[in-house]
Amino acid sequence: MAALAPADPSSVPAKLRIPDELARTVFSPQAYADDDVIYPALKELRATVPLGLSEVPGFDPIWIVTRNEDIRTVSKNAKLFPSSAFNAILNDKAGDEFVRMTNDGKNHALETLTFMDPPVHTKWRNLTGSYFQPGNINKLADKIRAMAKESVDRLLSFDGECDFAKEFALLYPLRVVMTLIGVPPEDEPLMMRLTQDFYGGNDPEEQRPEVVDDPIAAAKQWHATLQDFYRYFDGLVAERRKQPRDDLASLIANAKVDGKPVPYDIANGYFVALAAAGHDTTSSTTAGGFYGLLKFPDQIAKFKADPAGLAPLFVEEAIRWACPVKHFLRSTSEDVVIGGVPVPAHSRLFLSYPSGCRDEAEFDRPDDFILDRKPNNHVGFGFGPHVCIGLSLARLELKILFEELMPRLKSVELAGAPRRMEANFLSGIKSLPIRFTKT
Ligand code: HEM
Repeated sequence: MAALAPADPSSVPAKLRIPDELARTVFSPQAYADDDVIYPALKELRATVPLGLSEVPGFDPIWIVTRNEDIRTVSKNAKLFPSSAFNAILNDKAGDEFVRMTNDGKNHALETLTFMDPPVHTKWRNLTGSYFQPGNINKLADKIRAMAKESVDRLLSFDGECDFAKEFALLYPLRVVMTLIGVPPEDEPLMMRLTQDFYGGNDPEEQRPEVVDDPIAAAKQWHATLQDFYRYFDGLVAERRKQPRDDLASLIANAKVDGKPVPYDIANGYFVALAAAGHDTTSSTTAGGFYGLLKFPDQIAKFKADPAGLAPLFVEEAIRWACPVKHFLRSTSEDVVIGGVPVPAHSRLFLSYPSGCRDEAEFDRPDDFILDRKPNNHVGFGFGPHVCIGLSLARLELKILFEELMPRLKSVELAGAPRRMEANFLSGIKSLPIRFTKT
């Protein structure tokens, strides 16, 4: 299958071209490991070339979309701005070539919603759409609260000091999403390793030994990790076909769409997306939101005064401020004008969610963590037909976790410098040393 070529950028005027240094920063995995590097770069872009063309050597020409409003405009129109024409996740050209080589010429490695457009996208999204509706998700609240209590007890069992990211934030979302899918607790360490491999392709500490120092490391790591995921989920599907239970694995394994069982690659694509997307995003928000409180400590006292009342607002601010998903890509199906900027057909668009979440045109004091910010029109969950399918679950589990945690902390402070993942797709705090006392 011949790959679609991105639009020839030669006629794009100089004022719409992003300075090389800034474009490299936005694509650089290392930049996302330091808020003082990535956020100033995004701010400068919003002020100078809010929608402009990047031409980073080794990458396709790609337009970077930084304004909150433009990200919404693009996200809500899948016909004008499809997800399937090019890879919806950033790779360099060599990485994209590797994906095509290992996937029969297709521009993506996984048959999942992210890479689909309507009507195919709508059909497969509907498969679990009602499961993820708030009405159904809220029925899980008691089960989730029991898991949250257990996690908080575990945190408080440390003797006044621990790594909040490693010992706390990482484990609870994994347990929640695996319970919903139907993965038993004894398989969680395997799932933990695979989800971290899946997103950690750029971070030297998270890479599989065989891909360290390899220029297309991320693409290769994805490929190897996917094979491991598939092997695991094949077994789970076979079990649930024999003996269905009340979980997502049973739903997907036994569903009929157009009168037929869900095809192998779609079922596996679903499982991998749910396992991976449902875990790291939520744990990064947990650690990132807590770091927001530690950095703006007056917010802690405020939160403790009314945990149940403020938890829903805190969750939205945590997602805005930590913004764990750094981008998705779309493209243009015809010549269009976005926010006053003409963009030719078949251009690739990089939606910078962290930029949209700190856009001064949308938010007052965008760099401050304001617990009760309202309204909070962040784009941390994306927008439009692809908006995060798990958002009600993520909101509920984060709300419950902090409702349980805050009343039990008497005091808490940073006990060392936080460290973030080096990754330009999904990145967050991987180490957050804290010192605390209990109530
Ligand atoms: C705080 C936690 C989370 C954040 C910040 C987050 C963020 C996102 C974002 C930005 C997108 C892309 C939206 C777009 O393209 O417009 C997305 C899509 C998705 N998310 Fe989440 N997510 C979170 C939690 C979850 C959970 C808990 C699950 C499932 C258990 C999940 C499953 C998915 C799936 C399957 C998609 C693809 C949807 C589609 O393309 O139609 N996410 N998420």
